[in-house]
Amino acid sequence: MRIFSGIQPSGEIHIGNYLGALKQWLQLQEKNECVFCIVDLHSITVPYQTSTFKKRILEKAITYLAVGLDPKKTIIFVQSQVPEHTELSWLLSTVTSIGDLLRMTQYKEKSKKYKKQINAGLLNYPILMAADILLYQTEAVPVGKDQAQHIELTREIGRRFNQKFGQTFKIPKTFLPKKGAKIMSLTEPEKKMSKTDSPQSCIFLFEKPKMIRKKIITAQTDSGKEIKYNPSSKPGISNLLTIYSIFSDIPIAKIEKEFKGKGYKIFKEKLAELLIEKLEPFRRKKKELENQQALLEKILEDGKKRAQIIASQTMKKVRKNMGLGKI
Ligand code: TYM
Repeated sequence: MRIFSGIQPSGEIHIGNYLGALKQWLQLQEKNECVFCIVDLHSITVPYQTSTFKKRILEKAITYLAVGLDPKKTIIFVQSQVPEHTELSWLLSTVTSIGDLLRMTQYKEKSKKYKKQINAGLLNYPILMAADILLYQTEAVPVGKDQAQHIELTREIGRRFNQKFGQTFKIPKTFLPKKGAKIMSLTEPEKKMSKTDSPQSCIFLFEKPKMIRKKIITAQTDSGKEIKYNPSSKPGISNLLTIYSIFSDIPIAKIEKEFKGKGYKIFKEKLAELLIEKLEPFRRKKKELENQQALLEKILEDGKKRAQIIASQTMKKVRKNMGLGKI
């Protein structure tokens, strides 16, 4: 199967990104043709710092490698280096309805957050995402739950294009992980954990042990002291239980039993230790990679070339079917 997914270079990667996306990517790279992108053009729809932007992109490449993505098995590249993404995005905008874009949850949230700077890019964001995916004749897109609506729209855009201009794109499926599709914020457990919220609300993938401990111990929990999974009445502890369960590979019911009558403090201390242990290999690998700029550049250059071969084939077909191209 051809797989495509991406992460924005905004903010630091947290365990939500890992459990929702990266962990699935790692499994999928073993038996599929995977294309994993650093989607820098998506990040410029909100205010960002130009002077540190390249560094942020490089950090994401380090993250991909540190968790175990293997450039021999997968294509790893930076979106803006393959201009076919933006070309296709424009072409797809002609089969996308404004009504569909206006009802996207992410657009509604971001336009509230950046009230004074709502640009057309923020609204058109899902069209670029559709272009990313359709360009590679993608069959499945592994993401967290928050992106499912965008992939649904991608499917709709792809179908509409095929109807209007003839069979051009494969229509991709959404792959959500069984557990961890929506990891919640540590400080406001009714909201998803997000790179662009306060650092207190996230555990970053390369977080120092001291900070992991501090953040988990102070994580928002619910009234009562029972360790019980119930997302509607106990969102805080349920989120921590989910995290514990995935990282330890122990079912939630068994964890509840183990901590019966022990209270939040003991549970949180154990969870902090577990996270420190499980995230340690990532921190170590990141350190190794940080001094290997030449290797990183080579991997991204190679990824770009490989991505472009697929992208240019699709674009040839798109231009032909739309009646564009050489006169
Ligand atoms: P981004 O950069 O916000 O997030 C990257 C991935 O992490 C998942 N994720 C989560 N999963 C579980 N719990 C959470 N709290 C959580 N927060 C984030 C996201 O679902 C995503 O899989 N628009 C996309 C990037 C993108 C893309 C694409 C993805 C651009 N083009 C094409 C797939 C295919 C985004 O902003 O992801």
